[in-house]
Amino acid sequence: MNQSAVERRRSLHGEWTSRLGFILALAGSAVGLGNIWRFPYLAGENGGGAFVLVYLLFVFGIGLPIMLAEVLIGRRGRRNPVTTMQLLGEEEAGSSGWRVVGGLGVVTGFLILSFYSVIAGWTLAYIIESASGAFTDAGAETVGAVFNSLVGNELVTGAWHTLFMVLTVGVVVLGVEQGLERAVRIIMPALIALLLVLLGYSMTSGSFLEGVEFLFEPRFDELSANAILDALGQAFFTLSVGMGAVMTYGAYLPENESIPRSCFAVAAVDTSVALLAGLVIFPIVFANGLDPASGPGLVFQSLPLAFGQMPGGAFVATLFFVLLTFAAWTSAISLMEPAVAYFMETRGFDRPRAALLVGGTIWLLGFLTVMSFGAWSEARFWKGTWFDNIDFLSNNVFLPLGGLAIVVFAGWIMAHNSTADELDPQAGRGYRVWRWTARYVAPVAVALVLLNAVGIF
Ligand code: TRP
Repeated sequence: MNQSAVERRRSLHGEWTSRLGFILALAGSAVGLGNIWRFPYLAGENGGGAFVLVYLLFVFGIGLPIMLAEVLIGRRGRRNPVTTMQLLGEEEAGSSGWRVVGGLGVVTGFLILSFYSVIAGWTLAYIIESASGAFTDAGAETVGAVFNSLVGNELVTGAWHTLFMVLTVGVVVLGVEQGLERAVRIIMPALIALLLVLLGYSMTSGSFLEGVEFLFEPRFDELSANAILDALGQAFFTLSVGMGAVMTYGAYLPENESIPRSCFAVAAVDTSVALLAGLVIFPIVFANGLDPASGPGLVFQSLPLAFGQMPGGAFVATLFFVLLTFAAWTSAISLMEPAVAYFMETRGFDRPRAALLVGGTIWLLGFLTVMSFGAWSEARFWKGTWFDNIDFLSNNVFLPLGGLAIVVFAGWIMAHNSTADELDPQAGRGYRVWRWTARYVAPVAVALVLLNAVGIF
């Protein structure tokens, strides 16, 4: 392999201005609806404590090592995930077939963003609901009715979904570095501060301990094979790993910045936000007699109850949903960027055309999710509604498979020298722990969970 060729490879889209810029972009990608919308409802559906514990193990034992693998592959390849996997596959194994892994990632990004944008549309709608005082002094029934009439109106949710896609395409057209760093620098601390304020409220809600118990007391007898698979999918989803988003951001990382420290910081912040969201939501759920297993509507039906009862609640609620929309936005950008980079680098599209093509396709696909919460909510096949299927396929099948392939590539196919070169030229203890995890722990764990879920093991 020609080492100098690797060193000369440069990103075609510019680089982050600093390590902090990279951390901010990565945190912007990781923290989003996954933490505040998806984590709580999955924890609720899967019985709490045991699910949460397994999820935490997966985030740090599987997701984090895969994140390192993705970033190092991305920085070495410096291209979109398809070309990067092809280039490195040729360099390391003499095979261009690894590009399939990048291709799967691009497809997975389309699928995830198609429903992600619809849920982000709900958060946009909730900005208006909040500002108009719809939740002031509202009880569980009113709040539930607001949610049901929103998702039942496909025209309205379709319009919000459209607006969110327009916003996302807009940023992607402008280029990912500009603005993203600056935006995350404000949004992230503000979101965490607001969650802490809400935590103060939920502590006094009367059911705080019940909520804490639900989240942290493991009852392993209630842990099904499917719950374990859900935890795995969510570990990937929340860290944005398994489809090349992190790989694409790694491609824009300057040569001399340390990958492990950045990734660890992002995983820690991401986990804190999810746990914080859980600690806010479940006490409210129990204090109001809601069902923790009520599914994707959980956050939208619980948080407004708290806002409705606090002084200045309409303002706090509006601010909260604005911040949540921004957090979703910075995540959505990272879901689109791999596909956009792919069309720019391999098909010769300019950025606006690539973004319009990718965004337009995802926008159309999103209407199936819009319908599946509306008129088609009773239509069931395979795992349930359209949304249930696309969610299961992308998050519980494609992300784990993609992550598995990535970590096997980094751990087994890439030369020791290549990975050490990116992660830690001294190949110190941290590097050895990563390599061991990437070679044995992560692949075996992912494979076992997948086999367990299909009932083979
Ligand atoms: N991690 C984001 C969230 O939790 C969602 C996300 C962004 C994502 N990019 C991704 C999920 C790539 C999977 C793969 O909201």
